[in-house]
Amino acid sequence: MLTPGPDWKADVTVETPEDFQGMRAAGALVRRVFEQMKRAAVAGVSTAELDALAAAMLSDAGAVSAPKLFYDFPGHTCISVNEHAAHGIPGHRRVKAGDMINIDVSAELDGYVADMGESFVVGGGRRAQHEICAAVREAVGDAIAQVKPGRSLNVLGKAAQRVAQRRGYQIIRNLGSHGVGRSIHEEPSYVPVDNPAETRRLRQGMVFTIEPFFTTGVPWVEELTDGWTLAVGKDQLVAQFEHTIMVTHDGVEILTA
Ligand code: CO
Ligand code: CO
Repeated sequence: MLTPGPDWKADVTVETPEDFQGMRAAGALVRRVFEQMKRAAVAGVSTAELDALAAAMLSDAGAVSAPKLFYDFPGHTCISVNEHAAHGIPGHRRVKAGDMINIDVSAELDGYVADMGESFVVGGGRRAQHEICAAVREAVGDAIAQVKPGRSLNVLGKAAQRVAQRRGYQIIRNLGSHGVGRSIHEEPSYVPVDNPAETRRLRQGMVFTIEPFFTTGVPWVEELTDGWTLAVGKDQLVAQFEHTIMVTHDGVEILTA
């Protein structure tokens, strides 16, 4: 069991076969949990009911919710509906057809942490909702294709930025990708959008998330009075797509594929 706390800081570099296996197992688990939740996300279900599915699966696997473990988050997963971008607290709210929801699952399994999330539309929805989800997914695909040891960390932000521009979206500025592995947030902490001043380089064995948030309006999220939920304006769309990836000797492995 990891000991969370304000001073907790780790910088996992996957070096041993055990590290590699541990990260792969954590990645596969969060993917399974997400897929189960997505299948259950139909009109009428509450976000607490979706979260309960995750709680049961994590506990069966001997895993612990990472936001709970490291931040004492009041849920096992983050479920954010419509203008809520991230860190939405599961509760009584029932999902309606035409809602766009983001499910973000991160968990610690045997000392390794993986993190993934996706936004999708429940029951039909509008074309604009599907388009923004597809665009942010494309951005993550393009960013992942750039990963190679020795390159600047900025190749990620640059690739995502290019897709955002082409598709007519803004990238949320105060949310970014982050290192994972031993803890939920570690080095390289906060990888912003295209930043020419970036000096960090990709190294073999680095593990981190790629998770841009695209929006149709002002590129900032604000915290709601519940102390957790991060939201854009009510008239804006926002969508995220997230994978945990590892830099290999010649490229990349997606741990949450
Ligand atoms: Co993340
Ligand atoms: Co996440």
